[in-house]
Amino acid sequence: MTIAPVPRVGIIVVAAGSGTRLGAGAPKGFVGIDEHTILRHALERVFAGPYAQVVVVAPAGREGDALSEALDASGDRRDVVTIVVGGATRQESVQAGLSALWGDVEIVLVHDAARALTPPEVFERVVAAIDSGRAGVVPVLPVVDTIKRVDGPRIVGAVDRSELSAAQTPQGFRRDVLDAAYRTATGEFTDDAALVADAGHEIEAVEGHPLAFKITTAADLDRARSLVAERPILPASAGLEHPVAIPRVGLGTDVHAFGGDGTLWLAGLEWPGERALSGHSDGDAVAHAIVDALLAAAGLGDIGTHFGTDHPEYAGAHADVFLARTLGLLGEAGWRVGNVSVQVQANRPRFAARRGEAEAALSAALGGAPVSVSATTTDGLGFTGRSEGVAAFAVALVVRA
Ligand code: CTP
Ligand code: MG
Repeated sequence: MTIAPVPRVGIIVVAAGSGTRLGAGAPKGFVGIDEHTILRHALERVFAGPYAQVVVVAPAGREGDALSEALDASGDRRDVVTIVVGGATRQESVQAGLSALWGDVEIVLVHDAARALTPPEVFERVVAAIDSGRAGVVPVLPVVDTIKRVDGPRIVGAVDRSELSAAQTPQGFRRDVLDAAYRTATGEFTDDAALVADAGHEIEAVEGHPLAFKITTAADLDRARSLVAERPILPASAGLEHPVAIPRVGLGTDVHAFGGDGTLWLAGLEWPGERALSGHSDGDAVAHAIVDALLAAAGLGDIGTHFGTDHPEYAGAHADVFLARTLGLLGEAGWRVGNVSVQVQANRPRFAARRGEAEAALSAALGGAPVSVSATTTDGLGFTGRSEGVAAFAVALVVRA
C-alpha cells in the first residue's frame, strides 16, 4: 500500500494595508481588539492549522512588529514564519508574499489579516477542497440584504440575491496556478479568485462563516471587540458545576434643547402642542439615551459610532428606527435586551398621563423587552429647571442571546 504524500500548504497573511477607513491612526493590523492586535488574532487562528510556511506581509517599517506578533502566535513553530514588506495595493502585497514562498509549497492560502476572527474550520474547508483537486477555492456567504441597482440617488432595478454570494478569505489555490496567474495578470483585481478566474481557471465556492467578516470600519472593530470580550462567568467559588454567563449593564444619557421645527417627539411619542427639541434626528433624548445604554452594555461603542451626522438616513428619524437598528446590532453581536429603565428630567412635557403609552412604544421598538419610564422636574434648577431643554438617563441590561 502506498500512502499519498501530504501536500505542503503555505499561507500568506496580508497585513500591509493602511486602514484608512478604520482611521485608528495606525496600520489596521496593529490596532488592538483587546490586549491583542488584529494581526495577532488573525495569526492565532492561522497557527491552529499545520502550515509548512506562514508568510506575513507587513507595511514598510513594521516588519519587526509583525515578526514579534508572528513569533508570539507561532508557539513552537517559529521556523515556519517569514516576514516580507507589502506594496501599494493588496495585489502587490500578495505578489510580495508569493515571491517569498519556499520551493516545496504546493498549496497556497491567501488570507486578509483584517478577517481576524475567521475560525479554523473555514481554513480546513478551503484546504480540503484544494486537496480534492480544485484549482481555486473561495469561502462565501449568502447575501442577506435586499440588493438594489442604483444610478446616483435613483433606484434603477432589483438584483436577485439568490444569484449572489459575498466572498471571504482565506482563498486557496494550487501553487502553480496562483504563481502563473500572478505572473500574467494585467490590471487590478478585487481578490485573488478574480485574478485566477481571469487566467481561465474554475473557482469553487465552499461555505464561509459570519465570523470571517472583514474589519473595515469603526463599527466592525466594535463588533470584533464585543465578540472577543471575555464572556463574564461566575467565579468557581460560587460553587456552581457549570459557569453561568453574567448579564452586562450599560449607562446612557442625552440632552436636547428646545427650539426644533414642528412638534415635539419624545420617548417615541408625538406630543402635539409642545415645543419641539432640536437635533440631527427628531431630538428624542429619551430614545438616544436608551440607544447609548444598550450599545454600552453590549460593548458596541456609542450612538456616534453607528448613527453619527455622517449617516444622512437618520436625519429626522424617530425612536422606532434608532431602537430597531440598535436591536439589530446587538443581535448580530449575540446579545438580547433584558430590560431598560429611563428617566426624563424636564418641566414639560408632563409624562404622568402618557407614561404607559411611552413604555409600550419603546418596548415595542425593542422587540418587547420591558422599558420603564419615569419623569421628574429639577426644582427650577439648571437648564431643565429653566425649561431650556430635556435630559434623559437610561440604564440597560443585556444578556447573551
Ligand atoms: N492589504 C495589503 N496591502 C495593501 C492593501 C491591503 O496587504 N496595499 C491587506 C490589508 O492589510 C487587509 C487586506 O489586504 O488585511 C484587505 O484590505 P482592506 O480591508 O482594504 O485593508 P486596508 O487597505 O488596510 O484598509 P483601507 O482600504 O480602509 O485603507
Ligand atoms: Mg484597502
